Amino acid sequence: MSDWCDCFNFGISITKQASEIVMTMFQQHKDVRVKSSSADLVTETDERVENLLISAIRNRYPLHRFIGEESVAAGEHLELTDTPTWIIDPIDGTVNFVHRFPFVAISIAFTVNKQTEFGIVYSCVEDKLFCAQRGGGAFLNGEPLHVSGQEDISRCLVVTEIGAERDDLALSIMTSNIFRLLTLPVHGVRALGTAAVDMCQVATGGADVYYHIGMHCWDIAASAIIVQEAGGVVMDTDGSQFDMMSRRVIAASSLVVAGRVADMIQAFPCRRDDEQPV
Ligand code: IPD
Ligand code: CA
Repeated sequence: MSDWCDCFNFGISITKQASEIVMTMFQQHKDVRVKSSSADLVTETDERVENLLISAIRNRYPLHRFIGEESVAAGEHLELTDTPTWIIDPIDGTVNFVHRFPFVAISIAFTVNKQTEFGIVYSCVEDKLFCAQRGGGAFLNGEPLHVSGQEDISRCLVVTEIGAERDDLALSIMTSNIFRLLTLPVHGVRALGTAAVDMCQVATGGADVYYHIGMHCWDIAASAIIVQEAGGVVMDTDGSQFDMMSRRVIAASSLVVAGRVADMIQAFPCRRDDEQPV
């Protein structure tokens, strides 16, 4: 089990504090700004929660580094190094937050030597705390989590996301991926509007596989270790090793199902999270 228990416990405690801000603002009117596309939004609460998390963590661990969604959006350089690093999405599901659709999460992963040591996903409205430390299993509100173990794709409940990319190529590949899976067939396709919570459904066994193209490292870094510690498999959509910077992920209940989905879906081109704009 990880040597980073103090950081893990501190992460849980500040996540719960930050969620009070999310919940207070949930029903209120929000001033919304558009980022990369009409479906990529930010509110004052996203920035406030990220600032609160980073300043609390920095105060306690002054040498640690951060990759935060809104700091990167504001122009901060994104680089994952060997230094202990907190990867933060202050609100995963900002579009849901704006509409008051009740799936929003705070997602925090912690890496050392580029390896994830723990992940915390707090689904604020549901009051569900998903977490995992490397080698220590995965938990939901203190209860152990296990993937379904399903190996038959035709019996799978699939979770995916439409995502924030709105160009014709991305939309056509995204919809044809769903079409191909539905015609396999699979039992169904679902989308909650937050990659972090979607992926945690695989960890609970409530869904059998999740895939997504175009999300960012802060959306899925925490839930990736939660799925792995629940006994699941996480890989790139091309079947290669999971790379949180690649903007492609499959999280599945079994290697067989992950491989079947990798064979069925196509990815559209996305600039890596750690690639600098030209
Ligand atoms: C988004 C959500 C959404 C997914 C997008 C993400 P955000 O994150 O996870 O479900 O489809 O790709 O960017 O912007 O709400 O933090
Ligand atoms: Ca976000």
